[in-house]
Amino acid sequence: MTTFDTLIVNIGQMLTMDHQGTGPVRGEQLRKLPIIENAAIGIKDGRIAFIGTHDEAHELAAIAKIDAKGKLVTPGLVDPHTHLVFGGSRENELALKQQGIPYLEILERGGGILSTVQATREASEEQLLEKARLHLDRILSYGITTVEAKSGYGLDHETELKQLRVVKKLNETHPIDLVSTFLGAHAIPEEYKGRATEFLIFMEQLLAQIKEEELAEFVDVFCETGVFSVEQSRAFLTTAKENGFDVKIHADEIDPLGGTELAVELEAISGDHLVGTSDEGIQRLAESNTMAVLLPGTSFYLGKEKNARAREMIDAGVAVALSTDFNPGSSPTENLQLIMSLAALKLKMTPEEIWYAVTVNAAYAIKRESVAGKIKLNRPADVVIWDAPNYSYIPYHYGVNHVNTVLKQGKVVFKRGSQG
Ligand code: NIG
Ligand code: FE
Repeated sequence: MTTFDTLIVNIGQMLTMDHQGTGPVRGEQLRKLPIIENAAIGIKDGRIAFIGTHDEAHELAAIAKIDAKGKLVTPGLVDPHTHLVFGGSRENELALKQQGIPYLEILERGGGILSTVQATREASEEQLLEKARLHLDRILSYGITTVEAKSGYGLDHETELKQLRVVKKLNETHPIDLVSTFLGAHAIPEEYKGRATEFLIFMEQLLAQIKEEELAEFVDVFCETGVFSVEQSRAFLTTAKENGFDVKIHADEIDPLGGTELAVELEAISGDHLVGTSDEGIQRLAESNTMAVLLPGTSFYLGKEKNARAREMIDAGVAVALSTDFNPGSSPTENLQLIMSLAALKLKMTPEEIWYAVTVNAAYAIKRESVAGKIKLNRPADVVIWDAPNYSYIPYHYGVNHVNTVLKQGKVVFKRGSQG
């Protein structure tokens, strides 16, 4: 008989997220969550080796046993959109925001993203690594075990590569699995002011090296007024695809330019933000395989009345994921649980839709659907035990961390009270 490395017993409610059907979860499928009550799981060599009821687990042998004490257990969460690696911070912008100065105007004045660019250029690779590691530790403490991380605060060759190398090193050394995205097209640096197209050609020169050194899997662009137009974004991402990358777009975040339609046209893995998406854009998304990654924390933090039209998207059949957008300007938070609450309150998503959006669908948004987002036999044992009685409790009790224990590939990597 197998001796498991770890058995988690006495699980009150377990969301396996192992739904029927293939592909991202949308439409009717979102109504129901795959749940096992009074459950237990067995872990062997970092993978899920047994899923069953608490009673069935009585017979099983294990080196270590964890008593979940009737709590909720779910797969590790997936955050599919962060700007993890950056120098400095931007608390000075809070006062500017209070004076009513819009986000894009702060950027236009050389602040915003560009002030983080300066701090990131000035930081050494070691400094960036240590800072990002602290953010990543906090991300893990919130129950997130797989994270996408973008560059985009270098906007020159050296610093973009420096950021991407930090992500690679963190992926090798931190328990969290990282998925890297090259966002060289995040803003136009001072030295290229008024020359967006030339700047994009300058950034394109990095694509071959990034591919060669496996420094990123995705290429992203900030398609926005005063940043990159739809035409410029199309040209840049088309070149990225020719270089073998999958693409993502910061689309229709502030102004409705048509980035959503571009994401569908380019068969992007995801279109992100989508606050200003048109009716046509929603329809096209629904008929596509492009994941809508919604970031309600950003709308909240930018003080916008308008949110992504999640209800209309979901009702039309769009596949939706959620993310923190963790970054130093428009969403300085690592707390995906808070985003789940905002999704309920601002986007009117149901608890069931929210759970799919931070597990299975978030994994699809970064092409990790075969390894992340589900508790399933033979998959990596990325598991969270929550100080909560059921899944609806997490979006309900907002603003705090409900995580009790996080296991990554079967190892306990965070326990409440064991870390700062
Ligand atoms: O997703 N929109 C562009 N990028 C980030 C913000 C980056 C920043 O303000 O530093 C976003 O909102
Ligand atoms: Fe972003």
